Amino acid sequence: MKNKLKVYYNNIPDELLKQAEEHRETQGYAYNKIEKLLIEFDNIPIGFLSPRLEKGYWRVSAIFIIEPYRNCGLGTKVVQDFFSDKKGKAVISEKNIASQTIFSKSGFIKSDRKIMDGNLECYLWVKNEL
Ligand SMILES: CC(C)(COP(=O)(O)OP(=O)(O)OC[C@H]1O[C@@H](n2cnc3c(N)ncnc32)[C@H](O)[C@@H]1OP(=O)(O)O)[C@@H](O)C(=O)NCCC(=O)NCCS
Repeated sequence: MKNKLKVYYNNIPDELLKQAEEHRETQGYAYNKIEKLLIEFDNIPIGFLSPRLEKGYWRVSAIFIIEPYRNCGLGTKVVQDFFSDKKGKAVISEKNIASQTIFSKSGFIKSDRKIMDGNLECYLWVKNEL
């Protein structure tokens, strides 16, 4: 049977949120108020995406995929599908190559706007094309 990726608004299992809260890159974003899309693979909850609409752009607050499912192309597929018909913005840490890779493959371009997230040096990435 074909493996199935499903992304939809639903409650996020607390075990997933806990793992995200423990991860340096998503700390503070797991339990915020932004509505989250659950990412399932073969009916197993493996992560979440939290986008919000801001003045014509969808801004990604966080994306998280549990470790065993990383580096298989799933994060790229989730972001590409969500942004296939949307303009977007994301603040991405200079250290987070995986995140830079998935957003770059989804049409985002790094801008020169530097934003500090605590001690993390980040840049604003933008997708202007639909
Ligand atoms: C960021 C994240 C969502 C990516 O999801 P994913 O399913 O692993 O992404 P993909 O497999 O589609 O792509 C990851 C890419 O990064 C690359 N990559 C991962 N770690 C890397 C590293 N340390 N150095 C260089 N490249 C790296 C992978 O090789 C892959 O590129 P490729 O497809 O060209 O080979 C996932 O790593 C994650 O949840 N990380 C923890 C939370 C986080 O950092 N969220 C983003 C900030 S909110």
